[in-house]
Amino acid sequence: MPRTPNFSMPQPLFDEPTFSEGRPTPDPTRFAVPHPSDARLYARIQELLYEDVVGFPRSRYGAPDVYELSTAFGPHGPGVAEAIRSARRIVFHMVGDIGASTAARYPGEIRVSDAITHDCHISPVTDRPSFLYLLGDVVYDFGEPQYYYDQFYDPYRNYPRPIFAIPGNHDSFIVPGTPPELDPLTTFQRNFCSPEPVVTAEAGPLHRTAMTQPGVYFTLDAPFVRIIGLFSNALEDPGVISSESGTWSAIPDYQLGFLAAQLARIRREEYAGAVLLATHHPPFNYAPPAGGSGAGGFHGGSPAMLREIDEICQREGVYPHAFLSGHAHNYQRYTRSVRFAGKSYQVPFLICGDGGHSIDALVQAKLGTPAQEPANGANVSYLDTKPAVDATGLILDRHDDRDYGYLRVSVDARQLSIRFLQVGSSPPLSEPADSVTVNLADHTIVPPAASAGRRRFGRAKGGSDGRRSRGEH
Ligand SMILES: [Fe+2]
Repeated sequence: MPRTPNFSMPQPLFDEPTFSEGRPTPDPTRFAVPHPSDARLYARIQELLYEDVVGFPRSRYGAPDVYELSTAFGPHGPGVAEAIRSARRIVFHMVGDIGASTAARYPGEIRVSDAITHDCHISPVTDRPSFLYLLGDVVYDFGEPQYYYDQFYDPYRNYPRPIFAIPGNHDSFIVPGTPPELDPLTTFQRNFCSPEPVVTAEAGPLHRTAMTQPGVYFTLDAPFVRIIGLFSNALEDPGVISSESGTWSAIPDYQLGFLAAQLARIRREEYAGAVLLATHHPPFNYAPPAGGSGAGGFHGGSPAMLREIDEICQREGVYPHAFLSGHAHNYQRYTRSVRFAGKSYQVPFLICGDGGHSIDALVQAKLGTPAQEPANGANVSYLDTKPAVDATGLILDRHDDRDYGYLRVSVDARQLSIRFLQVGSSPPLSEPADSVTVNLADHTIVPPAASAGRRRFGRAKGGSDGRRSRGEH
């Protein structure tokens, strides 16, 4: 059982980061801390969920600085980085929306955390994921410290690698009347943005140390890949990364300068690895076209947020190889075609928000019209409403609104490959339900047949980890 959180008590400082218990232990069968339903509270504050944004501090790192994966591993960092370079590729997990807000949802979260953990334990060394990156909404309903143990630490107690996170709306929205010391973003930062690898009160008796990422927005620099994570704030919709020229005065504009500095650094260094952008709120979220059958799911897209990001990318001359999000509780994979720097880019935009909290339908019945799901490959260019780049098309390639799942991402010197693994099938790690492979040098997607063959028959050859050779973005 977890000890009672006491946020004033001194926290033990470990001499090196710790990630798991070392010996697997049985799954929890119920919450250690009872979690009453928030349904009535939710109903009472419904409007605030679309009005109340939150401020946040600057990252501990300067705008152009990166947080290296090896830092998260402490004294083992150099060896881990060298092993990744020797394997000539990096593998890692990404997933969003993991937290179970009710006891009835808990088995779903445990199934996903078990599958992700199992994947780590059964993979051969050269194919073993190096970390898990959470795409927000870690603890429901509102990031309370007393629920971190049941919704994060205990389900991932046997995951033997670092776990990074960007906060979602559920990790940051402040319920009116919340004491300042229980501000959810403060709790998030205590557990993910700690200056030192301490064991927090939220971890209870477990040994995972707090992640030492430098802020709620940061760039994770690993061999072969950089992940630029932005905090898209506390609203149900839309995602917001800045004040939007004063519209959201409580939100500082730090992230605009940060993103510009990161992209300028990539350009200046002629960085050749994969560049991923991550926000909790997705730029695109499916809804039927005007006059179509049914209505969209529970969330919309964030076109103004994407426009701000587009503008900075355009100005700096660098576009990411892929965009990852959560928030919608299902899986969606889009391809956005962009004319950028005189070339034609194909950019995957993925939502993987089916990490355990719930599964939501992509479309709902509306006013007598039945819910009609889009076919694979549907042209959804009408969702790209405010592009600030020359966007030439948007396709919804695949979706899954029936299964839990997670992403398994691998990057070598030439390609980025993102696979979607469903959870619930047996054996747990089956063939991916979906996958996409991007050529890093020219931002083009490998045709499905060719990428399937590559998946089956092994990894690409290559020598660079993204730092040493030249490329373009
Ligand atoms: Fe969310």
